[in-house]
Amino acid sequence: MQPNDANYPSLRDKVVFVSGGATGIGASHVAHFAAQGAQVAFVDIQAAAAQALAEAIAAKGQKKPLFIHCDLRDIPAYQAAIALAASTFGTINVLVNNAAHDERHDWKTVTVEYWEDRLAVNLRHQFFAIQAAAPFMQKNGGGSIINFGSISWHLAMGGMPAYTTAKAGIEGLTRSFAKDLGPDNIRVNCVIPGWILTERQKTLWLTPEAEASTLAAQCLKRMLVPDDVARMVLWLAADDSRMCTSQLFTVDGGWW
Ligand SMILES: NC(=O)c1ccc[n+]([C@@H]2O[C@H](COP(=O)([O-])OP(=O)(O)OC[C@H]3O[C@@H](n4cnc5c(N)ncnc54)[C@H](O)[C@@H]3O)[C@@H](O)[C@H]2O)c1
Repeated sequence: MQPNDANYPSLRDKVVFVSGGATGIGASHVAHFAAQGAQVAFVDIQAAAAQALAEAIAAKGQKKPLFIHCDLRDIPAYQAAIALAASTFGTINVLVNNAAHDERHDWKTVTVEYWEDRLAVNLRHQFFAIQAAAPFMQKNGGGSIINFGSISWHLAMGGMPAYTTAKAGIEGLTRSFAKDLGPDNIRVNCVIPGWILTERQKTLWLTPEAEASTLAAQCLKRMLVPDDVARMVLWLAADDSRMCTSQLFTVDGGWW
């Protein structure tokens, strides 16, 4: 957090469920919500990183996040994880559909099995997480759901068609659920990140040339980091954004 970053009293003691919270942008969501006094639960397949994050947050005197080990391609297990979080903390107020995997693939080699696996990790679990979490929000008289899209297909990036197709679908999922859940005062929005320098992105793709071309394309001349995205997610979860739903919020330094 930066010294001038906002605090949101409406997030204090809220129960926030984050998918893919162990590393990358998801870990920043977990840390930012905990710093606001929220009770976080999160799933991931990277147990060591998840446990270390939960311990580090508890060591700061904040509410210790509940980590549930779960591969969210297994929908019954995933919905059980959401139910466990709700029964442990009493409800779910906020759902952050963050997890995805942007593995590159050549369209010529994609099999039916690979396609279905990519959609399972990039599009399917978000629907079933909403299906499991929304009834708690309905009982509460409202809630906030934040889905994660991607700038990639808006930029017509190639080299990962199953991922970009799924990310296009997330925007449709967002607007469809916003309509269905709006009468219950449940808001559904989509955050569209630009290129965010997580450790994974840095290891796999950051080169001086890639950084230079990104900065040339962005209006703002600084590379983005996970905290830049988490700050937007906090606002969308908080009551401050109470009349915003069915929208796309791009955090890309002005690229797309
Ligand atoms: N980093 C970027 O530049 C960027 C750009 C555009 C969009 N996004 C989107 O932002 C979100 C977060 O991105 P990120 O870069 O932090 O992603 P990431 O790949 O670094 O991390 C995603 C997290 O999800 C977890 N995860 C992956 N597969 C899982 C599974 N089957 N079950 C449970 N957990 C699983 C991973 O272990 C990881 O902790 C994603 O939706 C991504 O598509 C990121």
